Amino acid sequence: MKNSGVARGLFGDISVDKHRLTVGGCVASELAHEYGTPLYVFDVDRAVKTAKAYVDVLKREYPHSTVCYASKAFCCTGIYSLLAPLGLGADVVSGGELYTALKGGMSPSKIYFHGNNKTESEIKYALDAGVECFVVDSALEVELLEKHAVKPQNVLVRVNPGVEAHTHRFIQTTTVDSKFGFSIADGTAESFIAALGVRKNVKFVGLACHIGSQIFEKQSFEVAIDKMTDFILRLEKRGIAVERLDLGGGFGIHYIDQDLPLTPEGYMTNSARYLRAAVEKRGIKPPHLIVEPGRSIVGEAGVTLYTVGAIKTIKDVKTYAAVDGGMFDNPRVALYDADYTAVIADKADIDGDFEYAIAGKCCESGDVLIRSVKLPELRTGDVIAVLSTGAYHYSMASNYNRNVIPPVVAVKNGRSAYMVKPQTYEDITRNDVIPKFSED
Ligand code: LLP
Repeated sequence: MKNSGVARGLFGDISVDKHRLTVGGCVASELAHEYGTPLYVFDVDRAVKTAKAYVDVLKREYPHSTVCYASKAFCCTGIYSLLAPLGLGADVVSGGELYTALKGGMSPSKIYFHGNNKTESEIKYALDAGVECFVVDSALEVELLEKHAVKPQNVLVRVNPGVEAHTHRFIQTTTVDSKFGFSIADGTAESFIAALGVRKNVKFVGLACHIGSQIFEKQSFEVAIDKMTDFILRLEKRGIAVERLDLGGGFGIHYIDQDLPLTPEGYMTNSARYLRAAVEKRGIKPPHLIVEPGRSIVGEAGVTLYTVGAIKTIKDVKTYAAVDGGMFDNPRVALYDADYTAVIADKADIDGDFEYAIAGKCCESGDVLIRSVKLPELRTGDVIAVLSTGAYHYSMASNYNRNVIPPVVAVKNGRSAYMVKPQTYEDITRNDVIPKFSED
C-alpha cells in the first residue's frame, strides 16, 4: 500500500510553512510544545466551512431540508456552539449526546433522537427536553413513548432498505439481518408503520435509513433513494403520508492518498437532484429531506499530534516508532483496520524513505496506529501528526490502561483554545470506590 506520509494538497486548509505543518494558522509543533502530546487539534474554520457547504447546497438544490450533524462523530459542547448558529440540527443517539447537544446550545426543536435500544430513562429525558423527533427502531420504543408522552410525539421509523454501502462499493441485499431498522423486503416495515395509526401519542411523520459510512460512491445513495421512494409510494397508496425522509449520513473523506471522496456539494447536489427526479417519477409529494453528515463535517478538521518515544528496529522485518498515544485516543485501527497517514510536524513536506509502523503505547500487540508509512528518519522527541482524526476519535476514546484522554484544542486564525480540557489522574479515579461491606 502506498502511504507516502506527505499528503500534499489533499488536506485542504492544513498547510505547510517552512516545512512546518500548520493547522488553523497555528504551527503544529508549537501546539505540541504548549499543550503537550498526545493532542487532538481541531480546525474550527475547516469544520464550519464544510458544515456551511452542506447547508448552502441544500438551500439551493432542495430547500425543504434539514442538515443534522451526527453527534457520534465528535461530541462536545463546543461543536454545537459552532454548528447551531449555521442552522444545523443534530442527530443524537443517547442521553449523554442529547445532554451535550443541549448544553452546547442546540435547540431541542432541531434534534432527532436515534438509537436501536433507547432506555426508558433516555426516552423520558428526551420527551421532557422536547426533542423534535424520535427515530423509532423497535416496538418496545413505541410502547415506552405511549407510556410517557403527554402529547403527540413526531416519529420517523428507521427502515432497512437492503442497501449496504462500503467505501468503494455497495451491495444490494434483501437481507433482514441488521440490528437497525425494520426491513422493507420482508414486509415488517410496512406492517409496523400501518399499526402506528392507532397510537394516540406517537405521530408517524416519515422514514429514516442509513446505508453505511465512509461511502464515496454516489450510486449507493441513488439506490437507497430508489428503494425509499418506492416504499413511500407503497405507503401513500395505503393512505399513509410520508412527510419527511431522513437519508442518514455516510459521506466519505480523505484518510490516505487513495481516498477520493466527493465534496459536500458533490454528494448533496447528486442526492438532492436524484431525489427530486425520483419523487417526480413516482408522482409523490417531495418529502422534507434530512441528511446527517458526521465524519465529513469534522473528520478532516482534526489532526492528532504525538511525540515519538522508543524506536525499535527488527532486522529484516520492520521498524516500530512508538508514540505517546494509541488505541485509547484512536481505536479505529484496531477495530476497523483503518488506514491513516502521518507527517513529521516540522518536516511536513519532506518525502522520506524510511518505513515505519507507528505503534501506540497500550499493552496490546494490536495497538498500532499506522501499519506502514514512509517518513524522513524519525528521532525520539519528534512530533508527528496523524491526519484526518476529527471524526470518531475523541468520541471513541477510552481510558484503556488508565491513560488519560487527550484534550482537544481548537485552532482558528493562528489562535488556540481548549475545546475539551485535559483529563487528570484524579479525573480517572474520581468515581472509583474501594467497596466496604458491613461485615468488614
Ligand atoms: N446517521 C446515522 C443513523 C448513523 O448511524 C450514522 C453513523 C450517521 C448518521 C453518520 O455517519 P457519517 O456521516 O459519520 O458516516 N465508528 C465508525 C463509524 C460508525 C458510523 C455509525 N453511524 C468509524 O469510526 O468509522
